[in-house]
Amino acid sequence: MSLSTDGPARTGANRRTYPRPRPATSDDYVDFCLFLQQLCGIELLQYKRPQMERRLRSFYAQRGVTDLRDSFPALRGDATHLSELLDRVTINVSQLWRNPEQWDLIEAKLIPALAERGGINAWSAGCSYGAEAYTLAALCHLAGAGSRLRVTIHGTDIDRRMIARARRGRFSEEDARSAPRAKLLAGFAETEGNWQAKPGLMAMTSFELGDLLTMSPRPGSYDLILCRNTVIYFNEPIRDQLHARLASALRPGGFLMVGSTERVAHAAELGLASAYPFIYRKS
Ligand SMILES: C[S@@+](CC[C@H](N)C(=O)[O-])C[C@H]1O[C@@H](n2cnc3c(N)ncnc32)[C@H](O)[C@@H]1O
Repeated sequence: MSLSTDGPARTGANRRTYPRPRPATSDDYVDFCLFLQQLCGIELLQYKRPQMERRLRSFYAQRGVTDLRDSFPALRGDATHLSELLDRVTINVSQLWRNPEQWDLIEAKLIPALAERGGINAWSAGCSYGAEAYTLAALCHLAGAGSRLRVTIHGTDIDRRMIARARRGRFSEEDARSAPRAKLLAGFAETEGNWQAKPGLMAMTSFELGDLLTMSPRPGSYDLILCRNTVIYFNEPIRDQLHARLASALRPGGFLMVGSTERVAHAAELGLASAYPFIYRKS
């Protein structure tokens, strides 16, 4: 299931068809979530309600809407409105070298350990516009990717707009604010106030739509999975199920890195041991 902003389907002589909302419940938040799921595939009911509801209600309060169901006509008919709403709910915030201390560990510990095993197949799960994947690519490039080290980095996100941006590999000055200058310059070319990933980094990375709530990656396929600042929005059982699928997708000896406010519950049951702060290793 993927989140799309392509707008409603058109049929026949320019007639529009829209998904029909399910019968109303007494709860406008639930009705809104069901409507959005039908419209573009995102299952907001699996996300933590207090945070998500606060975000939605403040978004609509600024537009004079108090009952969330009153937003349906605008969501159906106005692509700009839908896009602004998706910005609000998918929370695409990212940056190059986000949480630099985590990247120091990846560079000093994880890449060398994985390089010794012959190569790195990595997944940025919830990659947004690709900053995480390209930061990893830049560090792998410095470690010899493209010559003596084989590296592939796959990014997935539920937001189609973010995948399109990630494929361009272009970042703003603001995105680069935490990046160590020398490493940034090694991986990115400065063009008109932006940072463009160099061809070596572009060759290592690929991006595709994917909903973490439903994806079932092949067991034992990755050496490194980065899943940071994405599951914080999920309900706990959903988060734990996802962590179990991520653990299963790791090869023995592979690493899972979570965000700097996150942890894997019941890690040992999933065959994961804490290796470094916010980093688990599969046994
Ligand atoms: C805050 S960004 C994190 C980006 C990056 N991992 C980082 O730490 O900088 C969270 C991303 O998760 C994505 N996301 C939210 N729900 C998702 C889902 N069910 N499946 C895949 N991606 C999802 C959002 O679209 C957003 O781009």
